[in-house]
Amino acid sequence: MKRFNVAVVGATGAVGQELLKILLERDFPVSDLKLLATERSAGKKIEFKGKEYTVEPTTPEAFAGVDIALFAGGSASKDFAREAAKRGAVVVDNSSAFRMDPEVPLVVPEVNPEDVKLHKGIIANPNCSTIIMVVALKPIHDAARIKRVVVSTYQAVSGAGKEAIDELAEQVKLLAEGKQAVPQVFPYQIAYNLIPHIDVFADLDYTKEEWKMVNETKKIMHDDSIQITATTVRVPVFRSHSESVNIETERKLSAAEARELLARAPGVIVQDNPEKKEYPMPLYTSDKDEVFVGRIREDNSLANGLNLWVVADQLRKGAATNAVQIAELAVKYDVVRR
Ligand SMILES: NC(=O)c1ccc[n+]([C@@H]2O[C@H](COP(=O)([O-])OP(=O)(O)OC[C@H]3O[C@@H](n4cnc5c(N)ncnc54)[C@H](OP(=O)(O)O)[C@@H]3O)[C@@H](O)[C@H]2O)c1
Repeated sequence: MKRFNVAVVGATGAVGQELLKILLERDFPVSDLKLLATERSAGKKIEFKGKEYTVEPTTPEAFAGVDIALFAGGSASKDFAREAAKRGAVVVDNSSAFRMDPEVPLVVPEVNPEDVKLHKGIIANPNCSTIIMVVALKPIHDAARIKRVVVSTYQAVSGAGKEAIDELAEQVKLLAEGKQAVPQVFPYQIAYNLIPHIDVFADLDYTKEEWKMVNETKKIMHDDSIQITATTVRVPVFRSHSESVNIETERKLSAAEARELLARAPGVIVQDNPEKKEYPMPLYTSDKDEVFVGRIREDNSLANGLNLWVVADQLRKGAATNAVQIAELAVKYDVVRR
């Protein structure tokens, strides 16, 4: 079997650590591995498949000989993704830097796998909340054409990286000791609170996170006609994003039909049994790769409406798993360039 030289940029971060786990779990054909981050982490040792690797600073030259570069290094994408591509690597990028670039495919393997073939060196991994939502929307759109989506998110702190995870843990501890919790990563105390503000404010007083869900969904689904409005909220949960999704379709779908379609859809697990109090929750979807859907109901305020409750681990399916799946597709379609 062909093996590939892989670089992980941001290897010390929340997504980077998950990428390493997933490469291992899925037995991705890694030949050589390069772990990159900032000067701050240079020299750190990380083990992969029983071998110790040293974290190096990210430089353009570090990508020489790399076949697949998995980027999870925040601003590193803008600075180094094109440098990696120029040196022959296929970049799979977790940042938002290239997602809406018409030259860059934006891929969720359960939705638009073939777009991987169109890459010119960079493939973008969509926003975490968007990935989770479109995996559940796709079978419904195929069956009944979605006209409009109203989504509200409940996003875990790990969506904002390793420092945000530490901030929630620290705040809970300080408050239990009767001390004050001073926010650093989030604009307000996140412990025992909700913050309806993710990323910066943009057009029409929506946040950038909300616009990402609107624009990226249309690009991934290849359908600009879907109307979408989003409210994105940070919640004091460590891991797994949850979403309340209201859908209006052209053709009527009963809740039973939707449940059946979703149960057959790739990457989806239906967990929906009100009698037995069964529905997805972030505590139990963490460390899993699937998108969990429950609370499937007809919206009786609309002729053709559905309500879904969608939950998935955003560090895995919302980031690292999706990125490794894209790399697997690049191998399958033989579009790794070297
Ligand atoms: N967290 C999520 O759920 C999630 C989901 C989807 C997408 N993403 C995206 O994935 C990326 C990483 O997020 P994260 O949550 O893993 O963040 P994180 O936990 O803060 O980790 C950031 C990583 O990137 C490295 N880094 C930062 N700036 C760099 C630069 N200029 N050059 C090279 N390396 C750099 C850091 O290295 P040091 O250790 O040296 O500081 C660290 O390894 C971001 O673009 C984020 O938007 C995150």
